[in-house]
Amino acid sequence: MAGFKVAIDGPAGSGKSTISKMIAKELGMTHVDTGAMYRAVTLLAIERRINLNDESQYDFLETIQISYHDDQIYVDNRIVEDDIRSKEVTENVSLVSSFPYVRKKMVDIQKNLSTSGDIIMDGRDIGTVVIPNADLKIFLVADVVERAKRRQLEKHKKGFKVDLEKLVEEITTRDHKDSSRAESPLRKADDAIIVDTTNLTVNQSVKKIIELIQSAKGAINE
Ligand code: CDP
Repeated sequence: MAGFKVAIDGPAGSGKSTISKMIAKELGMTHVDTGAMYRAVTLLAIERRINLNDESQYDFLETIQISYHDDQIYVDNRIVEDDIRSKEVTENVSLVSSFPYVRKKMVDIQKNLSTSGDIIMDGRDIGTVVIPNADLKIFLVADVVERAKRRQLEKHKKGFKVDLEKLVEEITTRDHKDSSRAESPLRKADDAIIVDTTNLTVNQSVKKIIELIQSAKGAINE
């Protein structure tokens, strides 16, 4: 059996990764955070001091290996989880992920990962491009101020103080760039189910999506 595939897409800070990780743990699925991959490319591009606007300079991707296993992102053998969440990476990731060359490289890795076992993959183009035949597609949304508040709390827990208005602005800008790019923009797949988490806790969101997974599985087995 090919395994059960869940695609979770949605705008910045809608809770995709947190929720997907918890669902994966509860149901024994493999979770893949594709945003972490684009963040890793951005981190490397910054570290290598390439011209971020020049698509041809991303050819370093031919010689390094970006991989994702055990819910962890690796660049060759280096774990980059903390470094990829920096402000500088966040500010540049939408630009980096707009290049067709970068996307092709990442989508190839993601398609490969999606072929084995039960997978829950989150990102912007999972239901539209990476796993168009997913068994269940979710489009996770939440009000932008609520998303900014969640980001603020996350940063606060890590000891950083960030202005709420600045976060609203950063998230709005990123959403705009992600939705308006020519290559695989953030878009709800026609057959995706919208889940609005504005008034839901993380646990309630997890519960709701698990119910959707169970009912999609039930429909397959009928
Ligand atoms: O900050 P948040 O967790 O919401 O974003 P992320 O999932 O870490 O993704 C970071 C950025 O990577 C997005 O803003 C997109 O520009 C890009 N991305 C993408 O283009 N395609 C994906 N499948 C996943 C992320």
